[in-house]
Amino acid sequence: MAFIPAYPCPNKNKSSLLLRFLRGWRSWLDVLFERSYRMKMGHYRLPGMDVYMVNEPELVQKILVKQPRNYPKHQLMHKMLAPLLGNSIFTTNNEVWERQRRLMDQAFEQARLKLVFPLMCDAVSVMLARLDKVADGSPYPVDEEMTHVTADIIFRTILTSPLSGRAAHDVFENFNRFQQHTLRATVLELYHLPAWFSRRASIRSANTIRSVVSSVIRERFDARERGEGGDYQDILAALMEAVDPVQGDSFSYPEVVDQICMLFLAGHETSASALAWSLYLLSNSPELQHEMVEEIESVTGGKALAYGDLKKLRATWNLFRETLRLYPPVGFFVREAVESHCMRDKQIQPGSPVMVSPWLIHRHRENWERPDEFDPCRFETEAGKESARNAYLPFSLGERVCIGAAFATQEAILILASLVRRYEITPVPEHVPLCVGRVTIRSDNGIKVRLKLRDLNRV
Ligand code: HEM
Repeated sequence: MAFIPAYPCPNKNKSSLLLRFLRGWRSWLDVLFERSYRMKMGHYRLPGMDVYMVNEPELVQKILVKQPRNYPKHQLMHKMLAPLLGNSIFTTNNEVWERQRRLMDQAFEQARLKLVFPLMCDAVSVMLARLDKVADGSPYPVDEEMTHVTADIIFRTILTSPLSGRAAHDVFENFNRFQQHTLRATVLELYHLPAWFSRRASIRSANTIRSVVSSVIRERFDARERGEGGDYQDILAALMEAVDPVQGDSFSYPEVVDQICMLFLAGHETSASALAWSLYLLSNSPELQHEMVEEIESVTGGKALAYGDLKKLRATWNLFRETLRLYPPVGFFVREAVESHCMRDKQIQPGSPVMVSPWLIHRHRENWERPDEFDPCRFETEAGKESARNAYLPFSLGERVCIGAAFATQEAILILASLVRRYEITPVPEHVPLCVGRVTIRSDNGIKVRLKLRDLNRV
């Protein structure tokens, strides 16, 4: 039977300015209305600003792929994330971004992904040991656990250092607070209302997270200055060593701190969101679990998962791809129109925010068949392949495409395959996740499933 997973029911009609403000305060998804999922392009009037939402695939291609320099990242994005990500590649533009991307690309080559696979496996083993203790079939909050394991993987692969339970908890709590306060500050500023209280609270949370990360980086720089650099294979080492082939220079210490903080957060919060939603979907799909386990056992021959096995796990890939369609962790991107121009019937002024929303595009009534239904096999049908070509962008498109897409996919397939192989995952029907859009797409009341050690003889 078709499974329609939880999502916020769109409002019947476009809300008034006041209602949009009140709804957006909690979650930007609550501002959407039925036509948002049908229209090619939307226009929202805010005090002093016109915001455009672009859904039509050809126009999305124009913004992200064909003319990205006419639509750089919006300063709003920078302001929103700067307390946490500093002047990092995520929000910079033009020559500054080009140099950062040339240096960062060196740290994300395929060869390094293979090199960090054993570090990912270590973090997964520790996660399974933690989960074995709670796998008694009672409701368990997997979203916090997914934040823990992805933060641990980022720590190990970027800084060669495991993340303690205490630090993981601090990061989880502070990131939730950061998301809430940042969204509030942004909504207040968009409406020209005082935002200092929310802004200050978001800076406080950001500083706590930055201190967890920068303490480790400081030690490495100090050790290098003392001539005790060590033989590190991690991403920090790659960033410290990278030389720009154009300008011949490297990242300075403050630049590395910004980039690593960005990688730490861009790299674990997004993956944690996708994994938690994957487990919610999986808990409601016993047949898919069965299929995944059979495939994993056949590919591995009952042994531990190896690097080369991951690309053969078709059912696990389909689950991950469908999760990214239904719950794209980055629900929207904000670009800025450089010039005055016409798009469809709208005259866009320079500086206006132009938004592209994977959330809307992935659930758009014209782009996908049965858009709200969970159907991991859809990517194998002709119609599904066609939709994916035109209207699937969880990692964005074009020159600003996610630098960590292959890293995130490798990590997700490894984690999902390891979890489903070890545990029977069943739902908690009385706990329906409340899907909210903040910095990422999250569940406001968490995501709970029941885990029970699997008896492999019964598969
Ligand atoms: C499921 C996990 C992930 C998703 C869905 C995701 C999604 C995205 C998206 C949509 C963007 C473009 C944002 C925009 O244009 O405003 C982006 C950019 C980026 N992501 Fe990811 N990401 C994920 C994991 C990661 C990981 C694991 C890393 C690094 C370890 C990473 C690093 C980055 C960086 C550095 C950028 C900025 C690239 C640039 O502007 O040149 N991401 N990501």
